[in-house]
Amino acid sequence: MKVLILGGNGMLGPWVVKSLEGRHELRITDINDLETPHEYVKLDVSSLDGVVDAAEGMDAIINLSVLRPHRQIAFDVNTRGNYNMAIAARTHGIRRLINTGPHYQLAGPNYEEFNFDLNPDMPPQPGTRLYAHTKALGQEILRIFSETDDIYVQTLLFYNFYDAETLSAPNGGPRLGTDLTPFSVAWTDAGEAIRAALEIELANLPSRCETYNVFTDLPHGKFSNLKARRQLNWQPRHFLEGVWTRPLSPGK
Ligand SMILES: NC(=O)c1ccc[n+]([C@@H]2O[C@H](COP(=O)([O-])OP(=O)(O)OC[C@H]3O[C@@H](n4cnc5c(N)ncnc54)[C@H](O)[C@@H]3O)[C@@H](O)[C@H]2O)c1
Repeated sequence: MKVLILGGNGMLGPWVVKSLEGRHELRITDINDLETPHEYVKLDVSSLDGVVDAAEGMDAIINLSVLRPHRQIAFDVNTRGNYNMAIAARTHGIRRLINTGPHYQLAGPNYEEFNFDLNPDMPPQPGTRLYAHTKALGQEILRIFSETDDIYVQTLLFYNFYDAETLSAPNGGPRLGTDLTPFSVAWTDAGEAIRAALEIELANLPSRCETYNVFTDLPHGKFSNLKARRQLNWQPRHFLEGVWTRPLSPGK
């Protein structure tokens, strides 16, 4: 497949590229410069014309772009970026869109006290936090396009990422005496989940808009990754057992 990647120069991008290269033809884009053996186009996802132009000749688009802090730019990237991706798909007859975001664009504050089997088909409650809210709006735009156009949207939700070998994480990982987030995954397994979504037959999807929780099998059971495992046939290879253990309190 010819695949356009938006926001491909962030933390997740290289892992997605690693999973796809050799199997697909990649056109990687980002607002920042990138050195890559693949085709590279410097692209701001908030530019409608730019995204439409970059999508010409593609079979699929994967959106990894995100901007977290700034009200206007977060909206432009996280919300408008998805609108632009959908218009590009409509313009060029691209049927496969893969979107990404944080789990709390779906399971926001209202779900924090729930503690069992939260699944990706529950009603979205992103709350008002800028990152979650703008990503959730972007998701809603894609959902509506999936109803009006012949477009298949698969959204993969993530939270914490770990290096499978060193168990290091971008934010330093779990602090002593705390538990790891019950929504954690190895970078390599995250890349493989995107590949699984890209390669699944569209006819095998139950609907034109499906969302998946992407984290490895963990003991907590607060969230469920069953849909990603069953529908995408995705198998996490790393279970991050090394960060499961809480140190015992003194005297125990
Ligand atoms: N890293 C995490 O902890 C984490 C957690 C949960 C979900 N996610 C989701 O995973 C996906 C990938 O995130 P990441 O971790 O790689 O984030 P990142 O911040 O490392 O990378 C985002 C990329 O988007 C690019 N970008 C920003 N503005 C842009 C614009 N206007 N046009 C084009 N590109 C632009 C950035 O240059 C960067 O390369 C996102 O959807 C994010 O919401 C990440």
